[in-house]
Amino acid sequence: MLVGVLGGGQLGRMLAMAGLPLGLRFRFFDPSPEAPAREVGELVVGSFDDAQALDRFSAGLDVATFEFENVPLAAAERVAGRVTMHPSPRALATGQDRLSEKMLFREVGVGVHDFAPAGSDAEVRSAAATLGLPLIAKTRRMGYDGKGQKVLRHEADVAVCWAELGGVPLLLERLVPFEREVSVVACRGVGGEFAAYPLTQNTHVRGILRESAAPAADPGGRLGEEAARHARRIMERLGYVGVAAVEFFVRGGELLANEMAPRVHNSGHWTIDGCQCSQFENHCRAIAGLPLGPTAARAPSVMVNLIGHVPSAAEVLRLPGAHLHLYGKAPRPGRKVGHVTLVGPDAVAGAERVAALSPIT
Ligand SMILES: Nc1ncnc2c1ncn2[C@@H]1O[C@H](COP(=O)(O)OP(=O)(O)O)[C@@H](O)[C@H]1O
Ligand SMILES: [Mg+2]
Repeated sequence: MLVGVLGGGQLGRMLAMAGLPLGLRFRFFDPSPEAPAREVGELVVGSFDDAQALDRFSAGLDVATFEFENVPLAAAERVAGRVTMHPSPRALATGQDRLSEKMLFREVGVGVHDFAPAGSDAEVRSAAATLGLPLIAKTRRMGYDGKGQKVLRHEADVAVCWAELGGVPLLLERLVPFEREVSVVACRGVGGEFAAYPLTQNTHVRGILRESAAPAADPGGRLGEEAARHARRIMERLGYVGVAAVEFFVRGGELLANEMAPRVHNSGHWTIDGCQCSQFENHCRAIAGLPLGPTAARAPSVMVNLIGHVPSAAEVLRLPGAHLHLYGKAPRPGRKVGHVTLVGPDAVAGAERVAALSPIT
């Protein structure tokens, strides 16, 4: 079975590393000849608006998917017109717009903090007056790793917000004084089968995920069950096939949904080493119409993202239960170049060592 993946980043690379043993083969589409997935499959280099390149990519595929949520919708739709695509372009479209994500959460009864869209400077001012400060303004589209965001604490921030964020449609949200951030990674099969991984606790530094620990502290398992129920309702509403993640704030012990990703997710990387069947394998299984695999954690796990710095492999691998994953990317400030997952009783101490060995640059 030949799987086509729009995007050839580290997520695509890890999908292939999980799918190859299942007998799947991979072809990637990416604008860069240096795409990290080039080492694990065929790479079609092209621009997402090059219809001919997209058609060359689509020819002979059995199924298509995407690993990058900012794939232009028209490109996804063109490929989906020729070959079955999981998840669907509709799910991609929802995940590309912060406003449609939040409206979907509300529609299916998932708790969200207050928000309002703003399409002009005047609308920023009136939304700020209605919601009250402090707020966080986010571009509705194309934001990632905390990019395209601005915290509004004072009237002066409101006044410059529209211009500073580039004069594009925004979503204004109440700034949530959360106790912690958690996420759920879940998978839905072609027949509607559903499985969710244990709740994961995430720590961000300057808007970029630095660390994910799983299973998250969750007395009685209440939050994990609720997060999985939420993910299931969202996925059912979208007729979703494959892996998706939903990020939440925990505030007063309750979940507030922040955003979703219609793809495998950084907060699920620990499942490669910490679970019997990783998020990458389960995404492959789901889109190939195969039975889903078990999602229980083998042991407590902590994943540390390597951001802008590649540590010495020998020093990392000396730590008990350490698994090193490098993406084959040149280090640049703020760029995720790999991750380390520590599995077992020493995971928390090991994660502290990795963070010290590999400072964020
Ligand atoms: N409404 C909010 N209140 C408090 N913190 C927020 C809020 N929205 C975002 N953040 C912080 O910024 C991080 C990145 O924002 P997010 O909406 O997840 O965008 P992305 O991950 O696409 O860059 C969040 O994980 C959280 O730490
Ligand atoms: Mg996020």
